[in-house]
Amino acid sequence: MSNVLTDDCRTHDAESTRKLGYLLGRCAQAGDVIICAGALGAGKTTLIQGLAAGLGVDEGQYVRSPTFTLMQIYRGRHTVYHFDFYRLTHDDEVWDIGFEDCLEAGGVVVMEWGDKFPSVLPAARLEIRFEIISADDRRITWTSFADSHQHYHDVDIAELAR
Ligand SMILES: Nc1ncnc2c1ncn2[C@@H]1O[C@H](COP(=O)(O)OP(=O)(O)OP(=O)(O)O)[C@@H](O)[C@H]1O
Ligand SMILES: [Mg+2]
Repeated sequence: MSNVLTDDCRTHDAESTRKLGYLLGRCAQAGDVIICAGALGAGKTTLIQGLAAGLGVDEGQYVRSPTFTLMQIYRGRHTVYHFDFYRLTHDDEVWDIGFEDCLEAGGVVVMEWGDKFPSVLPAARLEIRFEIISADDRRITWTSFADSHQHYHDVDIAELAR
């Protein structure tokens, strides 16, 4: 398996980050595993709100950091399993909260602080990294390590400007 895709963009407000999430979510397919990595307040939940919308999750299913619940499920074109590893201290806890079952369920699995326990990550994953440039500016880079992720080539970041 090789690093088959990498791209990045800068967003200047939360709405653009949400829209990038929407574009990624529109392309997402059953079985995809997506990790979001970046500091507190970098925009991980914001992007996942858009990702869920792009996966057909209706707005009534409010998307926020599952920091305390650890995992939330949304029903869309595919079921979305939204994890937050922020409060976990050991990789054993990832298995305790049902991560493996969700990986096998055939939906889309997305994790905030997903880079915290590299040992639990499947090799085939999309990694989205957030860098805070200033109060409202973020650099967002997404990289796929899966030959099966060709569908993310369909993300057209020119649409962010529209
Ligand atoms: N370009 C931007 N993209 C995303 N969020 C932005 C941007 N500019 C400002 N913001 C603000 O930054 C905050 C991002 O919050 P968000 O909850 O998405 O971060 P997070 O990475 O999930 O944090 P946490 O690690 O605490 O879960 C929001 O208040 C949002 O309005
Ligand atoms: Mg969050």
